[in-house]
Amino acid sequence: GPGVAQLVASRVLDVPDFPKPGIVFKDLMPLFSDGDVFRQVIDEIIKHHGADSFDVVAGVEARGFILAAAVAYATGKGVVPIRKAGKLPRAVFSCSYALEYGEATLEVHQDAFIAGQRVLVLDDVLATGGTAGAALDLVEQAGGTISGFTVPLELSFLNGRDRLTPRTVHAMLTV
Ligand code: PRP
Ligand code: MG
Repeated sequence: GPGVAQLVASRVLDVPDFPKPGIVFKDLMPLFSDGDVFRQVIDEIIKHHGADSFDVVAGVEARGFILAAAVAYATGKGVVPIRKAGKLPRAVFSCSYALEYGEATLEVHQDAFIAGQRVLVLDDVLATGGTAGAALDLVEQAGGTISGFTVPLELSFLNGRDRLTPRTVHAMLTV
């Protein structure tokens, strides 16, 4: 609800020139490091989607892991990692994408999901949408069905949501 949007707004820290000159990095760690605030963020994700709408939670490395594990635990679901290239030990699907600052590849284990499993995908920020697009593609490649995608923070001026249409994107705060 609007309360949690205010919470995100008040907690996100702008870090100029990180990781490169000209990029203003959005640091969401203050949203995770306070126990009461973190609980509100996790509860909002579960409330928005409804625990019955997904079977498993996928977290996007790195900060998506924090959200995904908490939501999975609180709802009695499992958690699946979507990782940067070269980290997962077994057979993977890979998807490369352009970042606001550089290029990257995400991977998921080929056997990460049971066919048709409904997957809630979580990350911290939606910017250009490259990361989210790759993550959602990987879930589908691995046989999952996207039940939703949530981030605490969406940067609308980078038009990430447009790249993901018609998929469902939920942001607690859009700036
Ligand atoms: C940041 C952020 C999102 C992504 C959003 O991750 O955590 O995952 O960028 O940007 P996009 O919408 O333009 O793709 P980053 O790539 O910095 O990696 P990290 O999470 O491992 O730090
Ligand atoms: Mg990230």
